[in-house]
Amino acid sequence: MARCFVTRRLPGSALERLAAEHEMDVWSERLPPPPAELRARTAPADGLLSLLTDPVDADVIASAPRLRVISNYAVGVDNVDLAAARERGIRVGNTPDVLTDATADLAFALLLAVARRLPDGANAVRAGEWLTWEPDWLLGHDVHRATLGIVGMGRIGRAVARRAEGFEMEVLSAHTLPLHELLARADFVSLHVPLTPQTRHLIDADALRRMKPTAYLVNTARGGIVDQDALARALHEGWIAGAALDVTDPEPVPADHPLLEAPNLIVLPHLGSATHATRERMADLAVDNLLAGLAGKPLPHEVGVGD
Ligand code: GLV
Ligand code: GLV
Repeated sequence: MARCFVTRRLPGSALERLAAEHEMDVWSERLPPPPAELRARTAPADGLLSLLTDPVDADVIASAPRLRVISNYAVGVDNVDLAAARERGIRVGNTPDVLTDATADLAFALLLAVARRLPDGANAVRAGEWLTWEPDWLLGHDVHRATLGIVGMGRIGRAVARRAEGFEMEVLSAHTLPLHELLARADFVSLHVPLTPQTRHLIDADALRRMKPTAYLVNTARGGIVDQDALARALHEGWIAGAALDVTDPEPVPADHPLLEAPNLIVLPHLGSATHATRERMADLAVDNLLAGLAGKPLPHEVGVGD
């Protein structure tokens, strides 16, 4: 029997399977464990089940001498110091595949919402501003047959491309086209790369200036991929038509953050994988990864193995 620290309660019954086999300590609050708590509760653990809101840094890893496996309840692992884990031979698991379609659905929802001004329309109805059907009220841009530039043709990027086919969009990929060319041609740019030192601020002022003034940016990947100050400026000054973000830097973005004053901007609170079924499948996979690692078996999804 091993000891595990689980940094939050998870939907579904996956944690019951973990508790049946191992000693399980669960952080049961709504907010993440503060850094000192994360360190202290991980210290005696053989296994850690972390969320993307938990910085599993070199300190956390160094203070947990027995730690053998880190199972991250996310596909992204930018919250985990992979080098520090590797140095100690700690295996790191993540939850790809099971959230691909939910995240691609949300990327498309954001794309449609920003292009067709759904929040503006919904707000207008509630504000009593719907006076009559007007020829030129709340006009947006066509999604069908527009050009979609996908930055990051991994599992989620490809799932977005499949959806785009149904809308008869022309799909450009940064794999087959230089990024600057994709940015210059796309009506929509959707980001699906992981956050790494190479992708941090990939979409900076220069990239935004290359986009068409009628184009939209959609980010369901990680906030740090976009230079938010540059994005705010791009929206205020009309370099692009709008942006729809499911991720920000930091998260949560404070309600009084200047970015939120920019026009033609939709921001969601990181809901890419937020469906009942997907979050339960993620919990199952995260527990499967943890159980396998504790048993010394290959993880169903080990970061850096077979990807
Ligand atoms: C969500 O952002 C994830 O990485 O799973
Ligand atoms: C719009 O509702 C239309 O009928 O054109």
